[in-house]
Amino acid sequence: MLWIRVCWLLAWNVPQRAAGATCQQNVDSTALLQLKPGDTVSSDIGYFVWMTDLHGDPYYATGIRQCRKRSLHALKDQTFGLMGCDPPIALGWSAASAAQATEQPKAFLLYTGDFSRHTMNLMPNTHANVSNIIGDVASVFKAHFPKIPIVMGALGNDDGPQNYFQTITSDEPANDWFVLVGAKLNSSWSMTSDAVKQYRYGGYFEARVGNLTLLSITTVIYSVRHQPTQLEEDPFSQFAWLSSRLKEAANEGRSVWIVGHIPPGIETFGYTQLWHPMYLSRYLEIVQDSLLGSVIAAQLFGHVHKDEFRILPNPPPGAGPILLSSALSPVYYNNPAFKLVKYCKSTGKLLDLETFFSKVAEQLDWQSGYCLNSTFPGFGADGLVMEDFLRLRDKLLLGLEDFEKYAKWYTSDYPADLSHLACKDDDTVDSARSKLLRRHQYGCGLLVQNQEDYQRCFDRAIASISTQHHAAQPMFSVARLLESIPKEFEDIETFRLSKLLRWAEVAKTQEALEVLNLAYRSLWEELLQKFGPAVERALETGGSLDSEISGR
Ligand SMILES: *[C@@H]1O[C@H](CO)[C@@H](O)[C@H](O)[C@H]1NC(C)=O
Ligand SMILES: *[C@@H]1O[C@H](CO)[C@@H](O)[C@H](O)[C@H]1NC(C)=O
Ligand SMILES: *[C@@H]1O[C@H](CO)[C@@H](O)[C@H](O)[C@H]1NC(C)=O
Ligand SMILES: *[C@@H]1O[C@H](CO)[C@@H](O)[C@H](O)[C@H]1NC(C)=O
Repeated sequence: MLWIRVCWLLAWNVPQRAAGATCQQNVDSTALLQLKPGDTVSSDIGYFVWMTDLHGDPYYATGIRQCRKRSLHALKDQTFGLMGCDPPIALGWSAASAAQATEQPKAFLLYTGDFSRHTMNLMPNTHANVSNIIGDVASVFKAHFPKIPIVMGALGNDDGPQNYFQTITSDEPANDWFVLVGAKLNSSWSMTSDAVKQYRYGGYFEARVGNLTLLSITTVIYSVRHQPTQLEEDPFSQFAWLSSRLKEAANEGRSVWIVGHIPPGIETFGYTQLWHPMYLSRYLEIVQDSLLGSVIAAQLFGHVHKDEFRILPNPPPGAGPILLSSALSPVYYNNPAFKLVKYCKSTGKLLDLETFFSKVAEQLDWQSGYCLNSTFPGFGADGLVMEDFLRLRDKLLLGLEDFEKYAKWYTSDYPADLSHLACKDDDTVDSARSKLLRRHQYGCGLLVQNQEDYQRCFDRAIASISTQHHAAQPMFSVARLLESIPKEFEDIETFRLSKLLRWAEVAKTQEALEVLNLAYRSLWEELLQKFGPAVERALETGGSLDSEISGR
């Protein structure tokens, strides 16, 4: 009991700051002064570094680089990478140095996947090269944090020999890829022998840090883009394992964090589902269970490259938040970023997150961006819980100050289309309504649900906001059109297409009708040719898609 109160007390004693100010340093020592003898509090507050999605490219300044859109000449002087491109591994080195330089004592480092660059097929030997990159990236982090545990091993879709490829070998004692990657991580001192032993079978493992249990799960196998398509009921028996680990933690009164790469639910670029619905419902059964779910103090994922949170449709009492962190790679137009997370060691509750970021430039300049708790009012004293994020979601829908701050940090302070959805004094009724609809597109994307439920959520919003809105385009079901996008397209093309369709779902212009028409006739290439560049421009400049497409 003392431990809980102590966390609460410490949090209580943190001096309040103006919104957006940088975090107070020396929080522990300030609080220490207030303690009675015997209250060894400082040990109950911990910090860890959270990095994700570096997408390091060892071939950055060569003819087989990921960054095809820029000339070799343009890349040569940019030793840490360019906006819109996967970076060289040097960017990871720079981020790790910056994390190391922060003053708080770090308990461990967490990495939530996508070590390797996109378009791995262009490298000479994808199998050898991707597994080497995983080991090399791990070594870079380990070099900066030689004395603390590294929790690493949640693999991204780019951490395989092909994009979204992972053979499912539930009946075999070990999987070749997990054996190879486990050995690379182990020899980089980034995976313990104990974790390696678990990892070999299905790429998931349990790690302990103090009294806290981390369950690292493999998620590429649940992706709607997973190859080879193979829908076993419970691949690698991971769900059964997850349930049993949670049950044991509940019995022993331990808190648990689930960490992985691809989050369950919807991505907010084109609002498409990330997990196959059957796996999503199985996962929801577990994490929404009133006993099992209540010991999960946090769920942490990467993959989306943006700084976001998610909400369970029926959160169990006391559920911790689901957080997605911003990427180190600037490939999808966000400033590179990582987080320093403050947590309560005994309760496992997250207390605050401080985001560090740098603009992409010749020299990187890492700085503190924002602290969650002082930037968004309304979080409690004894740690972050999902309920608080539910309220934050409601506030975001209003499009006021909280929304503006949220949109700014969504891309780690790189100009982004989301920020155009904030309410402005000079909004007309039409523009206000269209922004509100688009904020609801986003708000529905924050709920952990499948495509069908997402569509229901958004259709309800449409019905309540503008009764006649959709009457003009009844023959196009955007949900159906999204599903018919050919799987052969690269990620980035699929993103562009889904973004265009979601834009057209709300816009009432001639161009929107044309977008829907082309998709309806499956003229995908033509659609990309005609409207793809506008999406790219909007991303690059942070302009709104409305103005890039319609010149408005
Ligand atoms: C990639 O594979 C090729 C061919 O096996 C090898 O020569 C090269 O060193 C590898 N590069 C990396 C970064 O792993
Ligand atoms: C992991 O690495 C350690 C240290 O190098 C070594 O002792 C151990 O045998 C390795 N474990 C496995 C399973 O490879
Ligand atoms: C872990 O839990 C045990 C028993 O509940 C407690 O005695 C110990 O101090 C805890 N350790 C930490 C680091 O919180
Ligand atoms: C978060 O900030 C609020 C004030 O807005 C404060 O009451 C609370 O104690 C803080 N929580 C933590 C965990 O620091």
